[in-house]
Amino acid sequence: MPAETQLGPIWNVRPFRASDAKALAKILQSATEAAQWPLESYERMTQLPGAVALVCEISTGVTAFLIARQLADEAEVLNLAVLTEARRQGQATALLAAATHQFQNSGVLRIFLEVRESNQPAIAFYAKHGFTPTGRRKAYYRDPVEDALCLEMKFSTTT
Ligand code: COA
Repeated sequence: MPAETQLGPIWNVRPFRASDAKALAKILQSATEAAQWPLESYERMTQLPGAVALVCEISTGVTAFLIARQLADEAEVLNLAVLTEARRQGQATALLAAATHQFQNSGVLRIFLEVRESNQPAIAFYAKHGFTPTGRRKAYYRDPVEDALCLEMKFSTTT
């Protein structure tokens, strides 16, 4: 359930700024399941053509982020993580909804991603949002070596 008060949501979803990099590093420290990229990569990635980079912010700072990329009529979620103490409050849902909205408005028909097969919280999260398994990539991850599950969500087209 979204964490809302009578005054509205207690967080704000907004585009990533270069000054968010430190907050992202802190979130990643608490989210070892997420892709662990060097900090410089974040700014670079957010400048790629088709990139959608969003953060979720509460009064004390940034608590979650999502980075995705559109290529033609497909989009890939590259990274998504929420600070441990901010989980199960709907922040990842809010980020995914905002990215999905942007993608739908720019002609995306399918969103896909890879996830460690042991990452049950993320698999449950994506299943809740309509993602279904499409395959597996053998030994896709390192440290530790593990298979990736490929998940996708197709937008229903109305004709
Ligand atoms: N066990 C089972 N289901 C879980 C779960 C858990 N530990 N954590 C999230 N979910 C699923 C459930 O469907 C849950 O709904 P419910 O609370 O009604 O049961 C829903 O996701 C919660 O959604 P939301 O609150 O928006 O998710 P979140 O803000 O807690 O973020 C992750 C979910 C996966 C992004 C977060 O756990 C995280 O940052 N994990 C570490 C990084 C990571 O794995 N990233 C994904 C890489 S592909």
